[in-house]
Amino acid sequence: MAAQNSRACLVLSNGMKMPQIGFGTLMIKPHEAVAAVKAAIDAGYRHIDTAYVYDNEEQIGQAIKEVIAEGKVKREELFIVTKLAPQYLSPERVREGFDNSLKLLQLDYVDLYLMHVPTAVQFDKNDRPLPTNEKGELRIDVDVDYVDTWKEMEKLVDEGLAKSIGVSNFNEKQIERVLQVAKHKPVNNQIEVNPYFTRQELVSFCQSNGIVVTSYSSLGAPGNMKTEEDPVLLSDPVVKAMGAKYNRSPAQILLRYPVSRGCAVIPKSLNPEHMKENMQIFDFELSTEDVKSLDDLNMNSSQLNRFWIIFKDHPHYPFV
Ligand SMILES: NC(=O)c1ccc[n+]([C@@H]2O[C@H](COP(=O)([O-])OP(=O)(O)OC[C@H]3O[C@@H](n4cnc5c(N)ncnc54)[C@H](OP(=O)(O)O)[C@@H]3O)[C@@H](O)[C@H]2O)c1
Repeated sequence: MAAQNSRACLVLSNGMKMPQIGFGTLMIKPHEAVAAVKAAIDAGYRHIDTAYVYDNEEQIGQAIKEVIAEGKVKREELFIVTKLAPQYLSPERVREGFDNSLKLLQLDYVDLYLMHVPTAVQFDKNDRPLPTNEKGELRIDVDVDYVDTWKEMEKLVDEGLAKSIGVSNFNEKQIERVLQVAKHKPVNNQIEVNPYFTRQELVSFCQSNGIVVTSYSSLGAPGNMKTEEDPVLLSDPVVKAMGAKYNRSPAQILLRYPVSRGCAVIPKSLNPEHMKENMQIFDFELSTEDVKSLDDLNMNSSQLNRFWIIFKDHPHYPFV
C-alpha cells in the first residue's frame, strides 16, 4: 500500500469520504471535552467519534461550534460520528435517541450514525448510565431485534439527518441479517481491532461486503478496567522492537497496524503531544512480514472484556 498523508480518507459505499484517522472521546469527561476536541481539531483531526453513552456530546457540540465560529474549519470539513445508545434500540425509541444526540451536538446532521451495539437494554427515564436491577445486573431487553432498529435508522438517511448509517460491535451473522433487509446498507462497522484481538475473519467479511471497518481501542485501551496482571499492548516487546526498527513510538506502530489492514482508527487522548504523534502514521508503512508478526500476537480476547461481560446473557451478544 502506498504511503498516504494525514488527510487520508476511506471511501464509504455511499460515496462519502471518511478521514481514516479520527479522534476518540470515550471516557473524556464533560469538563475536559471542549478543550480536548478543540486541541484535536488544532492538531488536524477532522473526524470526531462520540456516543450518547459517553455523556460528552454537548461539550463536543460546543467545541465544534467554537472552532467553526473562529473560522478554523467549516462544518462540511468535519466528519462527526455518534451512536444510538442500547436503551434506545427499540424501534419506537430510535428517533428519540437520535434527536437527543443531535440536540446535544447542536448540529443539523451527523455524518455517520452507528447502532452502538446489537444488544438492547431496557429504557429507563434516567437513561444514563445503563439501567441495572437491584443486584447491579444490566437490565437487558431480549425482545428487540436489531434488524427492526435498523429499519428505523434508515429513515434518518431518507430525511438527511444522518448522511450515512452503520453498526458497531456486530458480528458476521448479525451484519448478514441487516444486509438481507437493508435499503441503506451499513457503511461501517466499528469494532475493536488490535494485535491482541485481530478480528481477521470479521474484518475480511466486512471489507468483502463493502463495509469499512473502524478500529477502536487500537492502543489496547490502557487504563480502562485493567488489572496489573493484564498484558499491556503499548509495552509489548514485539511492538516496542518494531517501534525501534521504524523509529516510531509503540502507539504509532499500533495505529499503523489497522490502517495497514484498510481500517480507520480513532485513538483517544487528552494529551496534545499524543494527539499529534497519533496523526503521524501516514508517512510510513509496515512491511507485510511485520503486519504478520503483529497478527501473530492475537489472543482473540477483547481488551474491554471486563466491560462487555455485562451483556453476556443477551441473545444477541456479539462476541461468540
Ligand atoms: N463502539 C464502541 O463500542 C467503542 C468501544 C471503545 C472505544 N470506542 C471508541 O474508540 C476510541 C478509542 O478507544 P479507547 O478510548 O478504548 O482506547 P485507545 O484509543 O486504545 O487508548 C486510549 C488511551 O491511550 C493513551 N494514549 C493515546 N495516545 C497515546 C500515545 N501516543 N502514547 C501513549 N499512550 C497514548 C491515552 O492516554 P492519554 O489521554 O494520556 O494520551 C488513553 O488513555 C474511544 O475513545 C471511542 O471513541 C468505541
